[in-house]
Amino acid sequence: MTAQIIDGKAFAAKVRGQVADGVARLKADHGITPGLAVVLVGEDPASQVYVRNKGVQTEEAGMRSVTHRLDAGVEQIELLNLIYQLNGDDEINGILVQLPLPAHIDASFILDAIDPQKDVDGFHMSNVGRLATGQKAMVPCTPLGCLMMLRDHLGDLSGLNAVVVGRSNIVGKPMAQLLLADNCTVTIAHSRTRDLAAVCRGADILVAAVGRPEMITGDMVKPGATVIDVGINRVGRDGKTRLVGDVDFASASEVAGAITPVPGGVGPMTIACLLANTLTATCRWHN
Ligand code: GUN
Repeated sequence: MTAQIIDGKAFAAKVRGQVADGVARLKADHGITPGLAVVLVGEDPASQVYVRNKGVQTEEAGMRSVTHRLDAGVEQIELLNLIYQLNGDDEINGILVQLPLPAHIDASFILDAIDPQKDVDGFHMSNVGRLATGQKAMVPCTPLGCLMMLRDHLGDLSGLNAVVVGRSNIVGKPMAQLLLADNCTVTIAHSRTRDLAAVCRGADILVAAVGRPEMITGDMVKPGATVIDVGINRVGRDGKTRLVGDVDFASASEVAGAITPVPGGVGPMTIACLLANTLTATCRWHN
């Protein structure tokens, strides 16, 4: 293996430490404790794990954590009323509605009901528009974590060719906007892209966020490129499952200059950035 491993676990611990310092200062100087409310609808096992981890890490950073668990069959109006109540709660600075929501609920309607200043996920249309037009915005946590790792590893990203594979609203599109704002030349590739391998081979920065296990192989990576793997896919069956990314780590790490592992790469950065966004939202609210 030639690639340097970008240790997201260690970097996330550093970011969480910085957030905890900021929270302690906010408390000491202004008597303010940031509060994060997480709303979970239904029993999705993966969502339950994420929500539990968010709660634990929020409290570890010195912030207040409130989790609202609603039945999978909850009426949309009831969920909406909870959002309005949290919007008006002075002790709550960040609101996150865990996705996916059950099919009978209009997710974008719910996300757009969140006060944009408390939208720590950055999914509200106003934050999407603000990010796209270069204004101060709440930025989605996963792409923000990827950007922080890229800046930390590469320094100035100006002029680099960045290819984002995947066009989701949660990762692909905001990732492309962030890279563009950092002066990269950005391509968004997706399932209909012609000659994906050739497009990827043009990338100094390759971000894989397609949700397909080990789809990006070493022959698709430019020698020396920085590869960020957003995928978390469970493969195998029975008692023998393992987590893999969207990048075939074994072959890509022979070619890349640096690469994030799965697990231990992008994953831990997402919650660290959620905590950072909650602190940011609190500071902006009180400014
Ligand atoms: N489900 C999977 N990822 C996310 C995320 O970043 N935010 C929310 N709210 N739900 C998710």
